[in-house]
Amino acid sequence: MKRFVLSLFLVTTLLFLAACGSDEGSGGSTASGDGNGGDDIQELTIKFSHVVAENTPKHQGALAMKEYIESESDGKIEVEIYPNSSLFGDQDEYQNLAANNVQFIAPDLTKFVGNNPQFNVPALPFMFDNDEEAIAFWDGEKGQEILGSLQDDGVLGLSMWPNGGKHITNNARPIDSPDDFEGLKFRTQGGQVLESIYSAMGAGSESIPFGELYTALDQGVVEGQENTFSNIESKKFDEVQEHMTIMNHTRVDYAIFTNTEFWEGMNEATKEIVQAGVDEGTKVAREEAMSLNEQALETIRERGLVDIIELTDEQIQVFRDALEPIYDEYEDEIGADVYEAAREAAGQ
Ligand code: LMR
Repeated sequence: MKRFVLSLFLVTTLLFLAACGSDEGSGGSTASGDGNGGDDIQELTIKFSHVVAENTPKHQGALAMKEYIESESDGKIEVEIYPNSSLFGDQDEYQNLAANNVQFIAPDLTKFVGNNPQFNVPALPFMFDNDEEAIAFWDGEKGQEILGSLQDDGVLGLSMWPNGGKHITNNARPIDSPDDFEGLKFRTQGGQVLESIYSAMGAGSESIPFGELYTALDQGVVEGQENTFSNIESKKFDEVQEHMTIMNHTRVDYAIFTNTEFWEGMNEATKEIVQAGVDEGTKVAREEAMSLNEQALETIRERGLVDIIELTDEQIQVFRDALEPIYDEYEDEIGADVYEAAREAAGQ
């Protein structure tokens, strides 16, 4: 009898714990208040997870968002930011957003080409010269359509935050022409277009999560990678790379993704503050991206761990010509209308 009571107690405890766990799983954000449609700000804890370091445009945007929301809600809404893949990494942040275990993520758009090939836009070689052109595309009709294309997964794209142009680092040799890529292997963020860029220059590529990149470079899993100055500097990739070529051939731009159920579950007063917080984060990330990247380049120069190759206009033109066929290769998949909108945003 004693054993039966003990077993019953154990089973009940386990069932209770499982119920708590699944509660957490389906609603990482806990809301209380007057429900959807009311005027009182709901008490909420919002999680924002990302993979980069603190001194980056993405984290500065997230901080601005947090400060705005917490102060405008008088502390009723709390925003917890998890940088450096400390909560979720590239491999699992999207699934956890869809499950509402996290309410905001800000991934590199090219990591979503498996869901929609149009997310390849930041990988189109030499399409955008600067942040303004990329922002003009993502704020435009086509860009907004692409950001909104994950609704079947219960994911809403709210805004684009820029990081900047990407540059090549490697530890095999100085690179100043497409031929220098021959036989090397590069890490990419993922996606068909980035893969084609490397194969067009005789190199291989592999997609590796950002959180594992330093070790992959250090251990020689790949010889090189492409990234913004702020990512290279803040993750100290120059410690494990010898050469850096300033290319600006592709970009890192982010989507601010949220969970639709979470978003629609907020009442109007709460949503207004959170939306304004996202807008504030967008403003700060857009304002600070360029200067943070310039500062990062200065820091990389000062550290002096990589030799820095600056290409002439003629050398850049050789890369442009080598990568031009990519446009024909992907026109059907990405869409002539998307190319046209991107070229218009780029003033071409
Ligand atoms: C990378 O994976 O290299 C970057 O996209 C990381 C980031 O979020 O900036």
